Amino acid sequence: VPTESCAFAPGRVNLIGEHTDYNEGLALPFAIAEGVTVRAEAQPFGSAGAARIEACASDLGEHDGFALAQPPRPASGWRAFVRGTVAELHDAGYPLLGARVAIDGQVPVGAGLSSSAALEVALCLALIALCGEPPPAGEVERIALARLCARVENRWVGAQTGLLDQLASLCGAPDTALCIDFRTLDVEPVPLALGGWRLVVLDSGQRHELSSSHYNERRAECAQACRLLDVRSLREAGAEAVERLPEPLRARAKHVIGENQRVREAVAALRAGDMPAVAALLNASHESQRDLYEVSTDAVESTRERLLAAGAGGARLIGGGFGGSVLGLLEPGVSPPAGAREVRPGPGAHLLQESPAPAAGV
Ligand code: GLA
Repeated sequence: VPTESCAFAPGRVNLIGEHTDYNEGLALPFAIAEGVTVRAEAQPFGSAGAARIEACASDLGEHDGFALAQPPRPASGWRAFVRGTVAELHDAGYPLLGARVAIDGQVPVGAGLSSSAALEVALCLALIALCGEPPPAGEVERIALARLCARVENRWVGAQTGLLDQLASLCGAPDTALCIDFRTLDVEPVPLALGGWRLVVLDSGQRHELSSSHYNERRAECAQACRLLDVRSLREAGAEAVERLPEPLRARAKHVIGENQRVREAVAALRAGDMPAVAALLNASHESQRDLYEVSTDAVESTRERLLAAGAGGARLIGGGFGGSVLGLLEPGVSPPAGAREVRPGPGAHLLQESPAPAAGV
């Protein structure tokens, strides 16, 4: 059994396919270079002789500690993710060891780039390695781990999120977007060859927290639409039946159906190297999120206007909405507006082999 471990998990950008994951639909995310690094050092005995987790969020200068023997108490902020991840790993049967854990994040929190999934996934990989278990290398293991991390969001954080962020973080690969079918959980790599075009993200500055935003309300509206249509998910909903739904359920369902189709068209356009078509699809996705799904805000709209005014061919809100970042697709020669950061698809979550620095500050 190793005495220390170190893992990295990336945040993600969703190219297209928003609010489709919990509707058994399609999405096309990619892992980004920025992520969360977790260093864990085995500490079998606390001062009272009981194994403990002592975690330190290095960038925030904050600490959390709790015994492994009983389920941790609920908490807020980053502590909810740490306590929830440890509790869910324990419930899943992992023989966790007491450890010092140092968390180092480079993904801005609440910016729609999935800092939370990066934290959950990096923590899982580091703690699983520390108890001598193999990393989740195969598809089945990755899906199981993504589900475990989603339970952290659902039970410990109070956000009824789907599997988009965790699967993107776990399965990402350089130069590759992932076409995920959330009905079958098939993950199909799609080469992200942009032919000189660039993807940038521009932060709206409006922080979102999915547990307290209208995110859960949107999810409940989709479930209600399914009950009225007598279908298992909106993937099965027919366009004609949807027209008979009352508002706002009709608008929500139309967004989801249209968005699934846009993902299919974006995959085809990428494969054909047709970047103007990809840009047009990003714009259509944004308009649907704004007008039908109603997850945009004034801050998001003005952020998008800045990208379009700079000459972006396409721009759309990414992530859960109600704040966060806007993704822009820029043709060659167009300069992004001040504050925009270029994003490129990078590797998925992995263990770092180099000897980790000792966990600090606890
Ligand atoms: C958040 C959630 C995801 C997904 C997106 C919207 O990022 O965590 O599960 O629902 O919003 O596409």
